[in-house]
Amino acid sequence: MTGSADASIKERLVTENTTTPPSSQKILESEPGHKCLISGKEVIMLSSNNYLGLASHPRVKRASQEAIERYGCSTGAARRLGGLTVIQKQLEEELAKFKSTDSAVVFTSGYTANVGTIQALMGKEDMIFSDELNHASIVDGCRLSGARVEVFPHCDTVALERILANSRARKKLVVTDSVFSMNGDIAPIPDLVRLAGEFNASLMVDDAHATGVLGEHGGGCLDHFHLEGQAEVVMGTLGKALGSVGGFIAGSSRLVEFLESKGRSILFTTALPPAAVAASLEALMVIREEPELRRKLWHNTTFFRDRLKRNGLHLLPGETPIIPIIVGETSQAERLAGLLFSKGIFVSRVGYPYVPEGQARLRTIVSAQHTTEELAYCADAISESIKEMGLEQKPSGQ
Ligand SMILES: Cc1ncc(COP(=O)(O)O)c(C=O)c1O
Repeated sequence: MTGSADASIKERLVTENTTTPPSSQKILESEPGHKCLISGKEVIMLSSNNYLGLASHPRVKRASQEAIERYGCSTGAARRLGGLTVIQKQLEEELAKFKSTDSAVVFTSGYTANVGTIQALMGKEDMIFSDELNHASIVDGCRLSGARVEVFPHCDTVALERILANSRARKKLVVTDSVFSMNGDIAPIPDLVRLAGEFNASLMVDDAHATGVLGEHGGGCLDHFHLEGQAEVVMGTLGKALGSVGGFIAGSSRLVEFLESKGRSILFTTALPPAAVAASLEALMVIREEPELRRKLWHNTTFFRDRLKRNGLHLLPGETPIIPIIVGETSQAERLAGLLFSKGIFVSRVGYPYVPEGQARLRTIVSAQHTTEELAYCADAISESIKEMGLEQKPSGQ
């Protein structure tokens, strides 16, 4: 490294603001259940993506432990270089069934699934149409692909139709989160399916927050809208409702074969460890055999949303377990989260760059594990704390 490059890095480290001062970073010291030990304090967890509690489900933990005994702690190689385990193949078959597709392929995270897939499928002659609130992994995949990217206003299918109609690109991809991770609303999937068909574009949905959560069988957004098979590329994560870690793409056999040989984030990384694979495989069985978990999640979600509204809070339109409470400035969200922590509740506060400036929020997430008493306590503590701080809470942060 040259002296000047070294100096510029140092300069950046000094001048650049970091969004989370390391001193305020809370540390998880237990399972990520509805009650957790965080930085030495027992709290109600109100911000975990562990929607169904499967990260600590006895069956899931046992499957993971047994896989370590049988297959060890690491696969020791990338998929194509000897790291593909028999249980990963089994997981891929089960994921394909779960998503009602021909085939599926596993990545080491949802992030690398999005980045590797978009980069492999699209190139500089092509055009991607991406919702403005799509997850950062989609944004990064679009950038890496070199394709032209048209960002359309959030869930605005009229604007999307206009830009699709004006596009002369030969290959077009419409890409959207199905449940938006920071707002908790659901994308207008039926309209997106229709528009993709009308304009000869492919549709890719990021089902990270819908897998195991939405739909009669927990299959995700296409299950929810009874549109199975209508998106060419379906992405999911194993790190949220499935209680483990990893990501996947479900679609046609041809798509999966293509990604196995062209997806750089598959080719150049160690395959997922057996403990994670076995946990996800068992989680899929639990989702199938214990639908009451999903019913409880939705019951809890409705209860918590209603209680917050009854307490006078303004919520963004939405129906999912992700319920943001927008307060405005990052410093206000930080103070509010601190006050709630002192009352025994952990809730993550999210500011720029995760969300636009001035729209910092508490990102509350309900799980199937919460009791009604816990949720009532949290909803009341949030509204009381907002009053105590004299905050004027508005849905848009304006
Ligand atoms: C919508 C969305 N897509 C993709 C990801 C990435 O998934 P993973 O955490 O498995 O990398 C996330 C997780 O934060 C997400 O919210």
